[in-house]
Amino acid sequence: MVRRFGRRDFVKLSALGAGAMMLPWGCATTTTKARKPDFSAAFMTDMHVYDEKKAAEGFETCLRYAMDRPDPAQFIITGGDLAMDILATGVEEADAQYELYFGAIDRTVNVPVHHVIGNHDTLGVYKDSGLTPDHPKFGKTYFLERFKQDKPYKSFDHDGWHFVLLDTVGIDVENRDYYGHIDEEQLRWLDDDLASANKPTVIAMHIPLLTSYNERREGIEKPDHKKAVVGNVPQVIDVMEKHPVKLVLGGHLHINESYTFRGIEYANIGAVSGRWWRGARDGFEEGYARLEFFGDRVRWRYVDYGWEVEEEAQQKAG
Ligand SMILES: [Fe+2]
Repeated sequence: MVRRFGRRDFVKLSALGAGAMMLPWGCATTTTKARKPDFSAAFMTDMHVYDEKKAAEGFETCLRYAMDRPDPAQFIITGGDLAMDILATGVEEADAQYELYFGAIDRTVNVPVHHVIGNHDTLGVYKDSGLTPDHPKFGKTYFLERFKQDKPYKSFDHDGWHFVLLDTVGIDVENRDYYGHIDEEQLRWLDDDLASANKPTVIAMHIPLLTSYNERREGIEKPDHKKAVVGNVPQVIDVMEKHPVKLVLGGHLHINESYTFRGIEYANIGAVSGRWWRGARDGFEEGYARLEFFGDRVRWRYVDYGWEVEEEAQQKAG
């Protein structure tokens, strides 16, 4: 079920109180009882921060919206495409984009923020970046150094739940391109990690596992979706289904859609940047997913944080 949720609706329902807030929660595991969640978190994806279109200001507005409230997110997971794009840039431009990105976080957030890698966070992969693959920061190395990680995937626990951040970006060095993929080493790690955690789990990634994006836009005549979804999805789902995985979150497409398959919900979430800071994308406003946890159940809702691009604001002003 896909549901569009605009700011006006959100404000109206917020004003009605906690009981009424239950109404729009349609996409994840649903519950009929109105009660306070054990804890809440935020999943923010596709920020695409750079020095144009007031992107950093927009991201900061989103962060404040999630944090400056009576029940703020206890942590944030980002879904990749943190910077506007470093696929086609060198180190200097990449540094400038991430400084804006971290500046917004540093000014607003005092809870942990965990970062998924997106295709646009891999340095110089495109030929027109001017970099060659032997550059010391090429591809994911830049991300690993900047985020002080050994691997571009990780996991952590919070209040009886397990959270996994996967790397679904494959790099085709020969053709200087990316594709959706989880390699063998990461898949083995995932299986071991989920087995040792043995808790209800949320998994976040950038390039999603399941989507109808391409079919909806182009029908089935062009079956080449290798940049839109993870190519080895059967192997990944086989691993996930062995463990108590409840919700799998994806980004990359900048739209909301949700599928439940054999007891696991696969939800792709709209972008903080909307259509790359140019307005709504396919009808989905700039926003993020608020996650609420009740025992071993989780539900999510898309929150429009009220951003309007300059053209929209001017139109409203008349
Ligand atoms: Fe993106």
